[in-house]
Amino acid sequence: MKFSHPLMHNNFTKSDMRSVQKLLKQKNIVLTQSGNVKKFEKEWSKWLGVKYSVFVNSGSSANLLTMSILKILYKKNEIILPTLTWVSDVNSVILNNFKPIFIDIDLKNLCMSEAEILKKINKKTLAVFITHAQGFNGISKNLLDYLKRKKIILIEDVCESHGATFNNKKLGSFGLISNFSFYYAHHMSTIEGGMICTNNKNIYQMARILRSHGMAREIDDKNRESKIIKKYPKLSPKFIFLHPGYNFRNNEIGAVIGLNQLKSLNKNNIKRKKNFLLFLKHLNNKIYRTSYDIKGSCNYAFPLILNKANFHMRDKLEKLLKTNNIEFRRGNAGGGNQLRQPYLKKYLKKIDFSNFRNVEHVHNFGYYIGNYPSLKSPKIKKICSILNSI
Ligand SMILES: Cc1ncc(COP(=O)(O)O)c(C=O)c1O
Repeated sequence: MKFSHPLMHNNFTKSDMRSVQKLLKQKNIVLTQSGNVKKFEKEWSKWLGVKYSVFVNSGSSANLLTMSILKILYKKNEIILPTLTWVSDVNSVILNNFKPIFIDIDLKNLCMSEAEILKKINKKTLAVFITHAQGFNGISKNLLDYLKRKKIILIEDVCESHGATFNNKKLGSFGLISNFSFYYAHHMSTIEGGMICTNNKNIYQMARILRSHGMAREIDDKNRESKIIKKYPKLSPKFIFLHPGYNFRNNEIGAVIGLNQLKSLNKNNIKRKKNFLLFLKHLNNKIYRTSYDIKGSCNYAFPLILNKANFHMRDKLEKLLKTNNIEFRRGNAGGGNQLRQPYLKKYLKKIDFSNFRNVEHVHNFGYYIGNYPSLKSPKIKKICSILNSI
């Protein structure tokens, strides 16, 4: 059989299929958001170690909804965010009319440089919207203490880092709000899907309301709901729209797949971590970066970054990857430096790219390749020997 290494393999299992079949065989089935969604949210909260979770139809929706909540609840206007992230993180900030303040990354974990974050914080800063990129932890005690002292909100995007930890506590349980994605190649999948998590009851209720058109009846709190109904006696109690919202609901099929995949998440993450270490061990560190801050990390992909900024070498690497059917994405998470993307042109003044040296390196000389649980060590060794032959 021809050698190939896809970004992801077999993430929808026979057992997932059985859980969907079981749902479809039920009498009087409801497939739109119902009991299984609620159950998945509960189980996810338990797994993560937070009080509340809200299942939505994508990680991008989780981002957008999160920034919409901040816009409604707070006045300050600046959001600090990374240049290496997924486009929806940036979109959620600009579409909610916040001012994005972009930060270069640290090559040790591909997350925002802590020193740069601290430099950019000022009186207008509302939140630091961190992306735990490609399974790495992007927070430290120093950062958490500083944000607490300055009363600046931490929002965590954990879409690429399910199960990664800081101080043995799962990422996504530190911020005021955290976001997850269950898209195809991530640590687990619900076909499309995402989760918004928080320990704050008001934020939880806001997330539920905004997920469903801004409707008051989604509030999940009978007392609060009846107060709202009393306040608007001229409105139909089931149709009170409190805020401009969205329809970001997921459905029962996604929820049963999520419930089933969650059972294997920890076990699969152990395999991913083992695989990651094997890649690091067998790759030639003279050619590729192999020194990362891996404490607590849990990567769904392997970041393949050339040490040297050498375009000839990059061409050779891409040829090698293509010839050997090793699927890759250039620019690591999200295609590299967001500041280079056309959608941002009208939002930014002249950019001095020399202030963003690390993300520029990853933009031009960084890749990711697959690291999935069914990947076995002989194949990892073979992939590394191909990569080292460059
Ligand atoms: C960091 C990050 N945030 C948000 C998203 C968006 O998630 P989704 O694809 O589920 O919309 C992704 C998706 O890959 C991501 O990597």
